[in-house]
Amino acid sequence: MLNEMDLMIKKCLFPVAGYGTRFLPATKAMPKEMLPILEKPLVQYGVEEAHQAGMRDIGFVTGRGKRAIEDHFDISYELEHQIAGTGKETALSGIRKLIEESTFSYTRQIEMRGLGDAILAGRTIIGDEPFGVVLADDLCFAEPLGVLAQMAELFKQFRCSIVAIEEVPEDQAHQYGVIEGEALTDEIFRVTDMVEKPPKGTAPSNLAIIGRYILTPDIFELIEETPPGKNGEVQITDALLTQAKRGCVIAYKFKGQRFDCGSIGGFVDATNFCYSKMRDAE
Ligand code: UTP
Repeated sequence: MLNEMDLMIKKCLFPVAGYGTRFLPATKAMPKEMLPILEKPLVQYGVEEAHQAGMRDIGFVTGRGKRAIEDHFDISYELEHQIAGTGKETALSGIRKLIEESTFSYTRQIEMRGLGDAILAGRTIIGDEPFGVVLADDLCFAEPLGVLAQMAELFKQFRCSIVAIEEVPEDQAHQYGVIEGEALTDEIFRVTDMVEKPPKGTAPSNLAIIGRYILTPDIFELIEETPPGKNGEVQITDALLTQAKRGCVIAYKFKGQRFDCGSIGGFVDATNFCYSKMRDAE
């Protein structure tokens, strides 16, 4: 049973071990999560969203070739010394605040065996408490509360795992994990079934899971018991289904806008969106 303190989610996991093959050759030597939307890398947007939701302990599940992420969330003495006292200093104030107010931990997923496996690799960082998960290539914008902050609020009410969902066109549902659920309100569903990347035309609904989760820690044992599923990977959706069958997964149609920056089209749309916001603010 969770007590009041447990309802504050402090930790957030970022699985960033994937190869980012859709962005080759850009991602040959550079993590996909470091691709910038305007002047800021994707992963920084995600960490800012977690920070706004009150999650200050950030854990990364990394893989080979991801060192740039560690360096990004660290001081760069030479650079900072060089620009000290110049107008350029302000460009680093956002990342500096994140570094000062958060802790960063890293662990490795040895083989790319799926998102479920990556989350399981984060168990040593998370321990036995509920936690957020951000897939940084899903870039979300929402005001005043970010998507993760909206979900953290909902967690206080339901005290169980929460997946963020979005309505997608039917012909795209096969690219996502898709839920079936009982509507509690227009935005909140109790999940009764979920399927990862259903074959075209078989999706139980058009409600697709996007890259934001709040998970209760019993998920780790469920992942351990989950055999490889779609594409031979250990799917988080399959482990969540066991929780859902116990009535313990809520799907939340978030307020805001999401861009799939793991695809070239989504990445360009996000760039245009941010650029026009920047121009409007000038
Ligand atoms: P994706 O399948 O979208 O990312 O996984 P990818 O594999 O890096 O990209 P493509 O498809 O080859 O272009 C969603 C998220 O899960 C992480 C990825 O880093 C990404 O953030 N992931 C996926 C892992 O950390 N480990 C895995 O084994 C699989």
